[in-house]
Amino acid sequence: MKKLIAGNWKMNGLASSLAEIEALKGITGEAACDIVVCPPLTLVEKAAERVGGSRIAIGAQDCHAQPSGAYTGDVSAEMLAEIGARFVILGHSERRSAYRETDAAVAAKAIAVHQAGLTSIICVGETRAERDEGRAIEVVCAQLEASIPNTATSSNTVIAYEPVWAIGTGLVPTLEQIEEMHSSIRQALEKRLGENGLGVRILYGGSVKASNAKAIFGVSNVDGALVGGASLKASEFAGIITAAA
Ligand code: PGA
Repeated sequence: MKKLIAGNWKMNGLASSLAEIEALKGITGEAACDIVVCPPLTLVEKAAERVGGSRIAIGAQDCHAQPSGAYTGDVSAEMLAEIGARFVILGHSERRSAYRETDAAVAAKAIAVHQAGLTSIICVGETRAERDEGRAIEVVCAQLEASIPNTATSSNTVIAYEPVWAIGTGLVPTLEQIEEMHSSIRQALEKRLGENGLGVRILYGGSVKASNAKAIFGVSNVDGALVGGASLKASEFAGIITAAA
């Protein structure tokens, strides 16, 4: 399976940062994996213009479940498609915690993303307490089951396993813990989606850097990475892409 390396810029970046996306064009390993950068909404259209004609895709970090309507401040999947987004991150732990996004809300957004012809990157992950209680796999598989809609296929859905305690902390699970979780996710996907479940890419996310990426990519059922902090600078992100290639 071709690896997918996704960058999540979160609420970082002004127009002057677009050069970091443009600098990814033609870097070593570009052809060997799929690359998507998800800048803040304000930069999506400009970023899509800058990478036009290259193999780099642009994505967004959230959307509304409805195509239009009285939802002040929100943006629909259709609107994102119109400005050149091809992926949408959904259910990131920061949105699940800060905006109380439920699994059902994530699934509804994913349907909208699929109907707009885009690919959803659905995030799941346990908290430190849940892992310490020995419930990590149970929690993640339950999130997965309830966050994936019936419209999901291997071509419109990507899963990102991001332990909440590993995001932005510099902490990373052991390779054994990653392997155990990713194989549980694979089994759950196969059970839920049949043949399609075998083709859904499962990304690892949480403190991925150029220095630890190669080891993580060597773990079975790790089909790429969702990268936060280390995606902001092209030089660091390029190191992760090269490690995947
Ligand atoms: P991080 O963030 O790479 O900065 O840990 C990952 C994410 O939140 O997607």
